[in-house]
Amino acid sequence: MNSFYKLKTVKVQKDTNDAVNVALEIPEELKDKFRFKQGQYLNFKLLVNGNEERRSYSICNAPSEKSNTLEVLVKLLENGKVSGYFNEHLHMDELLEVMPPMGGFNTSYHPSNTKTYVGLAAGSGISPILSNLKESLYQEPNSNAYLFYSNRSMNHVMKKAEIDKLVEQFNGRLKVVYLVSREKHEDPIFEGRISPEKLDHLFERYTDIDVKEATYFICGPSDMIKGISDYLKKEKKVPAIQVLFEYFSAPDEEDSAEMSDEFKAIANIESMVTVIIDDDEYSFHLNSKKESILDKALKDNLPVPFACKGGVCCTCKAEVLEGEVFMEKNFALTEDEVARGFVLTCQCHPTTNVVMLNYDV
Ligand code: FES
Repeated sequence: MNSFYKLKTVKVQKDTNDAVNVALEIPEELKDKFRFKQGQYLNFKLLVNGNEERRSYSICNAPSEKSNTLEVLVKLLENGKVSGYFNEHLHMDELLEVMPPMGGFNTSYHPSNTKTYVGLAAGSGISPILSNLKESLYQEPNSNAYLFYSNRSMNHVMKKAEIDKLVEQFNGRLKVVYLVSREKHEDPIFEGRISPEKLDHLFERYTDIDVKEATYFICGPSDMIKGISDYLKKEKKVPAIQVLFEYFSAPDEEDSAEMSDEFKAIANIESMVTVIIDDDEYSFHLNSKKESILDKALKDNLPVPFACKGGVCCTCKAEVLEGEVFMEKNFALTEDEVARGFVLTCQCHPTTNVVMLNYDV
């Protein structure tokens, strides 16, 4: 199971008025632990006003850049405790508690490929998309990439200097289209958010994108992800394997306190749950209708990993070794992982009298 490690900030730099770019130094002895794939994220644990807070932020570097730092972008949110800390108080040489990289928002690259990769990003969704597009360009000399990136205004475009530099560096292999939702543009096609209708217009304009053959990376608000991925798969007949997306918050978060009909329908049983963490076994009783397995483990002070508690980040992933569980939400595991018995324990309730889960996966 992954633990937290202390990493030093070696860059804390404003990227826009409401976003900060933070680089963390990876010391030699942690190089293996912090080896990462494009599109992965880091979990942070920090004390803000005396309370422990956890958040995940996507890495914006690409592995092929071979840097000894990992960089994240943190956008200031309204009333955001952690984003406020990062943007207003974080300083150079500060030690932050960070878990090794996690997440599977990526595809594999091969130098012989000739493909088109299309990044569809809104706001801070740029981080994992930039990481993926850069890696595709470094790894596949015959492939091209498009970035459609929407923000409120041009002043809100994150990583703009780096993106513009990449356009030059890759000499025509990276094309970037900025869209603005609260600013006028002389060409209306560049106004508004990324939506299925907007993509229809953009695909008509950028005809060198073979829509059905391209691979898509989508990151932004949940309604954008859902709308665009459905549009690509259902209307444009893009195979699902070519439509990759990453949520940064649970869809319909405001409804998350409500119990789903499926959850209401599970049997009311008492279960003996055993969890394996770092090769140690811990057991506790849990009623199927009560808190999640993760929440009960935390109540018992067990060292279980977590970050979002919303079924988004995958940090609480475990493998079911015995018995069965009901998983309320899943925005992180692939169908294949679920079929192989992996679950998000922040969303799980036991549905058999005996359940055993392994966090050491
Ligand atoms: S803690 Fe993030 S998915 Fe469970």
